[in-house]
Amino acid sequence: PFAFFQNMRETAPVRYDQDRDTWDVFRYEDVYRVLSDHTTFSSNRNAVLRSNQSSDNASLIAMDPPQHTKYRNIVNRAFTPKRVQDLAPRIEEITRELLDAVEGTGEVDLIREFAGPLPVIVIADILGIPAADRHLFKEWSDKLVESPHAQHDEAYQASMMEKARVSQELGAYFKKQLDARRVTPGDDLLTVLLEAEVEGERLNEQQLLSFCLLLLVAGNETTTNLITNAVRAFAEQPELQTKLRENPDLIPSAVEEALRYYSPVAAIPSRFATQDVELGGQWIKQGDQVVAWLNSANRDEAKFPNADQFLVDRNPNPHLAFGWGIHFCLGAPLARLEGQIALKAIIERMPNIRFKAGTELQPVTSTLVFAVKELPITFD
Ligand code: HEM
Repeated sequence: PFAFFQNMRETAPVRYDQDRDTWDVFRYEDVYRVLSDHTTFSSNRNAVLRSNQSSDNASLIAMDPPQHTKYRNIVNRAFTPKRVQDLAPRIEEITRELLDAVEGTGEVDLIREFAGPLPVIVIADILGIPAADRHLFKEWSDKLVESPHAQHDEAYQASMMEKARVSQELGAYFKKQLDARRVTPGDDLLTVLLEAEVEGERLNEQQLLSFCLLLLVAGNETTTNLITNAVRAFAEQPELQTKLRENPDLIPSAVEEALRYYSPVAAIPSRFATQDVELGGQWIKQGDQVVAWLNSANRDEAKFPNADQFLVDRNPNPHLAFGWGIHFCLGAPLARLEGQIALKAIIERMPNIRFKAGTELQPVTSTLVFAVKELPITFD
């Protein structure tokens, strides 16, 4: 898609797409503005329909201030950099266990064996899901993020219904876990969420449940894709592996570069103009939907010299892979930490990564996600 994005940045940086009835925004500067100006570009579809403000059970990601501010302040406490840093030993242990299991095989689907399970196990651990329930939890969250195989047909309908069923099961499960914490608090995120308050207010039951589901939906597949996309770049450009092996201190900067170069969230699809506004020479009308193309902004030559090169030591690297502004990814510190631990271990333990012979990468179906379905690799 990158050649297309470059062409759009040059010829139609802000364009209306009639078929989808949305505005696409391609340049860094304009994407940055859309994400920074939350008053003009609302995350809440209802706000521009002039009906009620977001209701209590809406998801954080679709709220505007003041609701967003209050809710975000409560959940921020669970994801401070300090709290996240304390998780490092546990993430290292999970990483070690997963890689031990494939050691000596010389060939894996990285997603199935490693990048898929890692974030799910980590978030289950943080939430305080008992180890015995982990397999259930993994099945549910896999189903939740599974992309529908085909659209506009029975298979699609079936998969949407399956998702609705799984959300219900998972919701009931979280409810049971939360009730148990009300009786016996634990040293886990569910307890933090139950007890956290801002100005005397706590999250209500609906908010607690929708937040737990949001963590799975927003955090698991994205982190899987960060790790997978990075290793894909390593397989495409083996000299990156040599550089990182020689200088492991560059791993954190390589994670940032992977986020920029192959951004897992290709686009943020839901901003709504609260007033008529000019952007990139076009007039966007009140109520219109705006799609911010992160994957294009992150390759914009006007912001990043040699934007199409993967530079492990790029500095500065003000990429927008986690969004920007008030909705900046809550899980960014966790995703970064998992990415760093995972890639360090992969570089150490999987020398000479190559695509398995005959591999043809299959992109996932959604254009909003930049990822492949499988990553079959070999290593020495
Ligand atoms: C928001 C990307 C990992 C939880 C966002 C947004 C982006 C993003 C682009 C902004 C959405 C918007 O502005 O509408 C990513 C990427 C990840 C990642 C690329 C991995 C590499 C995670 C993880 C978690 C998480 C691990 C939680 C455990 C959230 C939440 C929000 C969010 C709760 C909503 C924040 C708000 O609305 O205030 N993420 N994310 N994300 N992310 Fe992430």
